[in-house]
Amino acid sequence: MDEAERATIEEFERRYRLGEAPARRRVEQLVLGSDYGATSYTTVGQAADLAQRLQLGPDVSLLDLGAGSGWPGLYLAAATGCRVVLADRPEEGLRIAQQRALEDGLADRCGFVRSSGELMPFRSQVFDAITNTDVFC
Ligand SMILES: C[S@@+](CC[C@H](N)C(=O)[O-])C[C@H]1O[C@@H](n2cnc3c(N)ncnc32)[C@H](O)[C@@H]1O
Repeated sequence: MDEAERATIEEFERRYRLGEAPARRRVEQLVLGSDYGATSYTTVGQAADLAQRLQLGPDVSLLDLGAGSGWPGLYLAAATGCRVVLADRPEEGLRIAQQRALEDGLADRCGFVRSSGELMPFRSQVFDAITNTDVFC
């Protein structure tokens, strides 16, 4: 991993910690309609649209790549009953997401993998659907 990549990961670690602040969550609720500590511009309406287009439901396994602190992967699991694996590089976001999954009673349907998108530790055809929100930017 080069220095620029490490700096990007550290910057997102910082943003995920900031995202836990109550004031930050209130702003997110007002702007996006969510409260997961999102660092993207994806609204609840857009997440619901993803769920519909991908036909998410209890029999579906979803990979949320660049999952941050759980938006929208955890929301999609809660809203549709799908299973979800959240993959990202900053450990801090995944820690927050894991805690949220426990609080929301989703732990048995959620997995957390610290991984880059280039080197994902999954066999082919494990997932039925993949989401990413503001990851390739
Ligand atoms: C703008 S944030 C969006 C996070 C979350 N999806 C959201 O909506 O709040 C982009 C995320 O993509 C992740 N990301 C960027 N490039 C990645 C890569 N090559 N592999 C895995 N994750 C990556 C970053 O670590 C960051 O957490």
